[in-house]
Amino acid sequence: MQTFTVFNHAGGAGKTSISLNVGHELAASGLRVLLIDLDPQASLTGWLGLTDVQPADTVYPVAVDDEPLPTPQQRYGLHVIPSNMNLALAEPHMLGAVGAQGRLSRALAAVADQYDAVIIDSPPSLAQLTIMGALAADWMIVPVPTRQKGLDALPGLKVALASYKKVLPKLDVALYVPTFYDARRLHDREVLADLRAKLAPLAEPVPQREAVWLDSTMQGAPVGVYAPGSPVHRDVQRLTAELAQRTGLPYAGSVA
Ligand SMILES: Nc1ncnc2c1ncn2[C@@H]1O[C@H](COP(=O)(O)OP(=O)(O)OP(=O)(O)O)[C@@H](O)[C@H]1O
Ligand SMILES: [Mg+2]
Repeated sequence: MQTFTVFNHAGGAGKTSISLNVGHELAASGLRVLLIDLDPQASLTGWLGLTDVQPADTVYPVAVDDEPLPTPQQRYGLHVIPSNMNLALAEPHMLGAVGAQGRLSRALAAVADQYDAVIIDSPPSLAQLTIMGALAADWMIVPVPTRQKGLDALPGLKVALASYKKVLPKLDVALYVPTFYDARRLHDREVLADLRAKLAPLAEPVPQREAVWLDSTMQGAPVGVYAPGSPVHRDVQRLTAELAQRTGLPYAGSVA
């Protein structure tokens, strides 16, 4: 089992889109995939069409009471631990408990023989839930928008990654992923050149293509289900292949 945490403390970087769609792509190719929604915004949960989530279905009991993972829900061939707004209430409890940030890592160790890949979608923060997600990972996936906002986040990312790595020396960045790339814009091309100079390993950029990304979230389906074979689906397949190549995941590609 390899565990990936999709991380950027900056909001709207493409974390949830990557978690959901790379996760689905790996599952469609036959791997056993668990997705974990660590974000009280619960976008991943909603974009999978999961509703009526109770706190006991989320990682709340893991984070607060050191319990095992709840039974995952099943959707589109994926196992999913969903989230809801109440997950935000876990953070003050975690602050007062020694070792709370290591609880997800320990809970995942107990299911290591059940999955090939675990993908954790973290919230746009540097707080307790995010740290817990980072410390459960073998690898980080770091989406960075090809905008000034993406560059602005780099110093903070560097500090955060170094602090996680101090506690968990094996933790490494599997891929930095340039997101929302519009090749027609000089600004995007300049930022991408800057990212290429500053970050490694850097994936090929994921182009900005509104319709399918946005509409698939409204439909509550991954793009591989909503628009198989579309340019956006091919972007997802290419990113998944890059990730597999870097980490040794046995992804042979899915048929769209
Ligand atoms: N390549 C893309 N082209 C166009 N829109 C995209 C693309 N990727 C993601 N989006 C859309 O951009 C928005 C932000 O993406 P997403 O929610 O994945 O980012 P995030 O980092 O998880 O945000 P947050 O920090 O709020 O959790 C979403 O509405 C998503 O559907
Ligand atoms: Mg998100």
